[in-house]
Amino acid sequence: MPPQSTPSVRRIGLSLGADDCWPLCYEGILSDLDLELALGKERVRFEVERVPIVPFSLRAPQRYDLVIDRLTHWYDLSREWIKKSILLDGLYVFNNPWAVQSMEKHTSYCAMMRLGMPIPETWLIPPKEYEDKPDLNTTLQRYAKMFELGDVGDAVGYPAFLKPFDGGGWVGVSRIENRDDLQRAYDASGKFVMHLQASVEGYERFVRCIGVGPQRRFVNYDPTAPLHARYTKEKDFLSPADELHLEKVLLTINAFFGWDFNSCECLSKDGTWHPIDFANPCPDSQVTSLHIHFPWLIKSILRWSLFCAATKRPVRPTLEWERFFEIADTDLPYAEKLDGYAALARDHFQTDAFDAFCEEHLGDLDEVAWEYFGSDRARDAVHRKVRSLFPEHEWESFTEMFWQDIQAWREEDAAERAATAKR
Ligand SMILES: Nc1ncnc2c1ncn2[C@@H]1O[C@H](COP(=O)(O)OP(=O)(O)O)[C@@H](O)[C@H]1O
Ligand SMILES: [Mg+2]
Repeated sequence: MPPQSTPSVRRIGLSLGADDCWPLCYEGILSDLDLELALGKERVRFEVERVPIVPFSLRAPQRYDLVIDRLTHWYDLSREWIKKSILLDGLYVFNNPWAVQSMEKHTSYCAMMRLGMPIPETWLIPPKEYEDKPDLNTTLQRYAKMFELGDVGDAVGYPAFLKPFDGGGWVGVSRIENRDDLQRAYDASGKFVMHLQASVEGYERFVRCIGVGPQRRFVNYDPTAPLHARYTKEKDFLSPADELHLEKVLLTINAFFGWDFNSCECLSKDGTWHPIDFANPCPDSQVTSLHIHFPWLIKSILRWSLFCAATKRPVRPTLEWERFFEIADTDLPYAEKLDGYAALARDHFQTDAFDAFCEEHLGDLDEVAWEYFGSDRARDAVHRKVRSLFPEHEWESFTEMFWQDIQAWREEDAAERAATAKR
């Protein structure tokens, strides 16, 4: 049979909040790519739209093949629209909204402990204060036992970190050196339910591992730097063995929770990598944090979303934990278990099919993105993000700084691609 005459359209929705820079770059590069893929007998084109916030019938069909979502973790209407669209229309969404909603940091610690990952010693502590509720006093009088906070601190050991069990963005995080610190920080913690977690002290490396589908990037992270400089520009700071190890950890976490994009913080101490914060399924995607790493993120989101939309990758509303637990329950050493989890994860992310798809259909992406990131449209995207974050007198200097970072990336990228072509 000849190929069809009218191309089919895959419609990608962007469910956005205050995002400025990355959607503009995503839309701009997709438009410049002007793709028309030959997939079997089908010819496939792509359209991208921003998802509006409107009332909806639970039975109303929706228009998208895939949605990249940045709202589920805090905006209920969009989250519930996405849940309905998965259940009733089979919509593919980055990320699984049920996993985002319910797998907070605490669940992620427990689940990864179950798989044998070296999560530092962590306790959960009843909150200092409560929202008044009808049965609260009776419940607490009957069941809440008095406890000695300092004993919990001693059991965890010092230094430690007191932080919300579902935290993010460093809100309510305190470093605790001793019993007095602990008491002070707990007294100020209000209604938050807090973890006390042993510090990975004197770590050698603090790495942010960013995952998009089967793709990953490792960034050396400096938590002491000002916000715009925490993602450092350091390169080649990991041995191949460490890269492989962190890739397995990251893919395992993301496949386990059904997260298409996520970032995972790992600290290395005496040769062991400790994941400490890995429930970040709406990861920082701003040029003002990521600078030279930003083009990688945009290209990775493009590749993975185009693959999922083009091939109609089925959405998986439920998770498949039992397959991981079967491996966890064997007598294998941890390194071999991790190999097993990573194999499940690579399978989950269709790594081979994805690589073949990129090779066959997205050969122009690197060049098109490189051109785009030298354009006025890209500079405008950077400028808009800067305007939303910094005071007016810094707009020009910060725009120029991030713009130069992206131009530095372009120089390196051109050199690397030339070297690859030569080989
Ligand atoms: N166990 C730990 N060991 C060392 N540093 C930690 C630990 N827990 C938290 N921190 C420090 O506190 C910061 C915030 O904690 P994190 O768990 O990442 O919270 P959030 O989810 O708010 O980012 C981390 O980036 C790190 O610098
Ligand atoms: Mg963190």
